Amino acid sequence: MHGGEPKEDCHGAVTAPIFQTSTFFFPTEDPISWQGKVPEGSYIYTRWGNPTVAAVEAKMASLENAQSSVVFSSGMAAISSTLLALLKKGDRLLSIEDLYGGTFSLMRDELPRLGVEVRAVSTTDIGEMERELGKGAAAVYLESPTNPLLKLVDLKAVAEMAHSAGAKVIIDSTFATPINQTPIDLGVDVVIHSATKYLNGHSDLIAGTVAGSKADMELVLKKRILFGGSLDPMGAFLLMRGMKTLDIRMERHNRNGLAVAKFLEQHEKVERVYHPGLASHPQHALAVRQMRGFGGMVSFEVAGGRNGAEKLLRSVQLIKRATSLGGVDSLVSMPLNSSHSSLTPGDRERLGIKDSLVRLSVGIEDTQDIMDDLNHGLSQI
Ligand SMILES: Cc1ncc(COP(=O)(O)O)c(C=O)c1O
Repeated sequence: MHGGEPKEDCHGAVTAPIFQTSTFFFPTEDPISWQGKVPEGSYIYTRWGNPTVAAVEAKMASLENAQSSVVFSSGMAAISSTLLALLKKGDRLLSIEDLYGGTFSLMRDELPRLGVEVRAVSTTDIGEMERELGKGAAAVYLESPTNPLLKLVDLKAVAEMAHSAGAKVIIDSTFATPINQTPIDLGVDVVIHSATKYLNGHSDLIAGTVAGSKADMELVLKKRILFGGSLDPMGAFLLMRGMKTLDIRMERHNRNGLAVAKFLEQHEKVERVYHPGLASHPQHALAVRQMRGFGGMVSFEVAGGRNGAEKLLRSVQLIKRATSLGGVDSLVSMPLNSSHSSLTPGDRERLGIKDSLVRLSVGIEDTQDIMDDLNHGLSQI
């Protein structure tokens, strides 16, 4: 809660003030003869850095047990800038095949154009990852749990394999949050979040974060400065405020998520439920080993195919029909036409994303209210 918060030196402010300024007086006694080098703890221009943004970065580094952090104007800015910072033309990137749709498109359409070879490997078959690492790779890109099927990657095992092959490990840990999982403790090098989601937690901000070693974050910061995905001070203030309640919100998301997953699992109109906290999840043992909680994301296949899923979405009254996730309000969507609409139907089928799949971001409302709403919606199928 207190990481990055001001000490007494901010005019006694108890919360991090919003430094709503694009630029700063040159930080030298004689500003005219300024030599262009920014002294430690000083600021020049908000695209480079800003005290409100720096406060969030300190909080994020402390949450992820990282040496340093860089904050961005979106999760995608964080992902693309990190990949541009750590990869170069001719490099080979191993990526798991279950990815957020935007990241999937970045890997499919953009990185190859820049001369980076991207090889998609099975998310859960660690043998394939090992074989591909044997052929050489500069980095491995992971999500765990994945969007939308909540598959897990054994982070400790992959980090050991990747490091002995000389590859860096990058993870998008958005679904887990640093409350439920700290990948750096398991050997991962760089941890990315769409801070739009649980970190901010109120569905009212777009932001992204990256955390890792000081050396890696210096490279990432350079790309933020040059490609320009900097977060504005007001956005940083909102994110800081959201992050202060991350722990208690996650407690409720974890509790509601598991209760709703169990409720759905026994419902006659539900064919399959995906949630790492369920004993029926094929990687439940791994979830228990590497996570402290299982989060509020629940995906499930309903009876009646796409038509059934659409009926449910039309019928819910408390749960909001919207994409995105991780906020205090429960949100429901179909990956088919939202988070994974950029995939071809063939790719979705190969990955197991069915037309009847519903993705639910369980909020912090009363548990029974959420279940009653789902029960009502499901009864319409
Ligand atoms: C797992 C994951 N990573 C990254 C992103 C992209 O983040 P943003 O929308 O903040 O750019 C999303 C967005 O849905 C996501 O779900």
